[in-house]
Amino acid sequence: MVQPYKHEPFTDFNNEANNKAFQVALNDVAKELGNNYPLVINGEKIFTDEVITSVNPADKKEVIGIVSKANKDLAEQAMQAADKTFQTWRKTKAEMRANILFRAAAIVRRRKHYFSALLVKEAGKPWNEADADTAEAIDFMEYYARQMLKLKDGMPVESRPIELNTFSYVPLGVGVIISPWNFPFAIMAGMTTAALVSGNTVLLKPASTTPVIAAKFIEVLEEAGLPAGVVNFIPGSGAEVGDYLVDHPRTRFISFTGSRDVGIRIYERASKVHEGQIWLKRVIAEMGGKDTIVVDKEADLELAAQSIVASAFGFSGQKCSACSRTVIVEDVYDQVLNRVIELTKEKTVGEPTDVNNFMGPVIDQAAYDKVMSYVEIGKTEGKLVAGGEGDNSKGFFIQPTIIADVDENARVMKEEIFGPVVAFCKAKDFTHAIEIANNTDYGLTGAVITTNSEHIEQAREDFHVGNLYFNRGCTGAIVGYQPFGGFNMSGTDSKAGGPDYLVLHLQGKTTAETL
Ligand code: NAD
Ligand code: ALA
Repeated sequence: MVQPYKHEPFTDFNNEANNKAFQVALNDVAKELGNNYPLVINGEKIFTDEVITSVNPADKKEVIGIVSKANKDLAEQAMQAADKTFQTWRKTKAEMRANILFRAAAIVRRRKHYFSALLVKEAGKPWNEADADTAEAIDFMEYYARQMLKLKDGMPVESRPIELNTFSYVPLGVGVIISPWNFPFAIMAGMTTAALVSGNTVLLKPASTTPVIAAKFIEVLEEAGLPAGVVNFIPGSGAEVGDYLVDHPRTRFISFTGSRDVGIRIYERASKVHEGQIWLKRVIAEMGGKDTIVVDKEADLELAAQSIVASAFGFSGQKCSACSRTVIVEDVYDQVLNRVIELTKEKTVGEPTDVNNFMGPVIDQAAYDKVMSYVEIGKTEGKLVAGGEGDNSKGFFIQPTIIADVDENARVMKEEIFGPVVAFCKAKDFTHAIEIANNTDYGLTGAVITTNSEHIEQAREDFHVGNLYFNRGCTGAIVGYQPFGGFNMSGTDSKAGGPDYLVLHLQGKTTAETL
């Protein structure tokens, strides 16, 4: 009997035993630095001459791993393997597929700190953020396995006399999974396992900055008993392998999480029907955010300040859900801003292997340059009141940065920065604050800090985001509790970790038998 779903608890690193265990895991990861990782096509491990070198963003000279790189020919081989395997995999019992996820979740749980330590090294995550990423990967597997067991017999429909009607779900076919680097374990594993537990076969193309954690996950799936050919691992260039597979006539669906520009490109390309293609491709695309915390004049202002700092600067603001703008009713603006500045100045930035550092680096040179350019834009649009400095001599470190007094239409209020920069904007009243909160193309997360219950109801109706939170920060959705996905240019609102998610990887089949 399967136990009810419960999310994986986070680790308390103030506990000495946990702290020591994590140090051991960091040492274990250090021993494996620079190892080589293969592509996996139809269960065969393939080492290529062309490689992706994954480096530590906190220390760019440190190589985390060298990962083989697929080109179009290898992507085609992977497609053929996945296409062929689909013919057998689609007929496997849902229970057997779910069991693979339960086993994989157990394997990761047993070696939890190892995976988190790898995330510290490869993605520059502080311990708590890495721990949350691993916990979320476990949650996705536990949750989707249970969801598949619920969906396996379809949904009830009515039958008339001498008629037997059924409505069931059947898998789609080969799915191309394209994942981002910022939740390199959770999102990659969640997207992959949702597709496979639904009976599809997969071509997994992870982000090029974090391919090692994905290679490790492939080993987990193999250990959990996943047959060859179900998940084919093909790291490679988005432009080469990504475009090739998005265009491929045998691709049945694409599950993408990443930036708006790439999401739009995939959506457009996938809409074209190619020679030999006999379906319209389905696209699940979860994209960027420009997420707002609104602070009302009737509010717990300490809670507001703490929530802003945690949501803006956790993992250096590199979350699609990160608070990158706050809109504060003018009566309490100065008070909240001053407290946020105070809290921000207490935060330490540095080597993420040190548990005492609140923030590590941003992911790479391109991210560093982009964020620093927005700091410069922010200086012209408002007042720099904290941070603003970066140091990329060893790794890509940027101080948590606050730009105050910006206009509601400033670029730093509208464009996704994806770094530790938060803009502060004043609103005349609560209604004006919600208007400003809605004034971007995005619609992913948002939070409202208020003690006014009418304003809670107003925001519930009018604040147009996929994930709306009251009296807390705007990051940290938990699988099975807060299904996650955004409106407008934040994507297709697929709601990862929610009860509707697997259905996106399935198609409904009606049968009617005359008795
Ligand atoms: P990205 O769009 O640069 O890359 C995402 C993936 O797409 C990578 O694997 C990349 O190699 C691949 N890719 C690049 N070009 C491609 C192409 N032409 N065809 C196919 N694939 C291609 O995004 P990123 O920098 O990895 O991630 C950060 C972005 O992701 C931010 O915008 C963030 O908001 C967003 N994000 C959204 C969510 C969400 O759930 N909405 C979650 C995490 C991250
Ligand atoms: N699911 C992640 C969050 O909610 C992105 O912060």
